[in-house]
Amino acid sequence: MKVSLYNVRQEYAKQKLSVAECADDPFSQFKLWLNQAIKSKVREPTAMNLATVDENNRPSARMVLLKELNDQGFVFFSNYNSRKGQCIKHNDNVALTFFWPELERQVRIEGKGEILDPKISDEYFASRPYKSQIGAWASKQSKVLSSKTSLLTSFALIRAKNPNRVKRPSFWGGFLVIPDRIEFWQGRPSRLHDRVEYRLSDKQWEKHRLYP
Ligand SMILES: Cc1cc2nc3c(=O)[nH]c(=O)nc-3n(C[C@H](O)[C@H](O)[C@H](O)COP(=O)(O)O)c2cc1C
Repeated sequence: MKVSLYNVRQEYAKQKLSVAECADDPFSQFKLWLNQAIKSKVREPTAMNLATVDENNRPSARMVLLKELNDQGFVFFSNYNSRKGQCIKHNDNVALTFFWPELERQVRIEGKGEILDPKISDEYFASRPYKSQIGAWASKQSKVLSSKTSLLTSFALIRAKNPNRVKRPSFWGGFLVIPDRIEFWQGRPSRLHDRVEYRLSDKQWEKHRLYP
């Protein structure tokens, strides 16, 4: 059976983007676009696709949430033993992609992923709702789960043993993605989209326009 999607198409025309109007550093430009996405009530403005590569060079991708942007890079939290965690351990090359459809914008980030400073992971874990903390302990993320009951039983047991708050498990915490390439994409009519790419060269960010 064939499903034809030839006629499912959008024309993009809301805004423009030029090299001149882009900030000198991509972090400032990203903050500007992220704030605009938040103000525009984009449903999940901090959701980003994380692409990783495993030890056999096989890529995989999934959504994660951006939880911090600092002077070094982009932070998300996960289980270190998960598939993504294992990938980053073997190969620290990663890519992040944001898509904000309401603004007709995409941001692509490429760089190296590393384990975040444990103190920051502790701080973030402590700020999470109690049941999410228990959930982090209960989940062997990405492993085969024989039945949902097993997960619910572990959750209940851990909860009973820890009626108050729990400490961060050593297998759970943050990753910091330190970028060396960031691209801002603004949809334009006739697929003549505006693309501005920043590349890190000798510790300086250089920016240029790309063909769409
Ligand atoms: C919108 C959205 C946000 C998500 N945020 C996270 C997150 O911040 N951390 C996380 O570990 N998983 C998050 N997930 C679940 C992941 O996409 C994924 O299913 C999980 O991390 C296991 O991936 P892995 O097996 O490749 O390690 C999110 C999923 C969605 C749809």
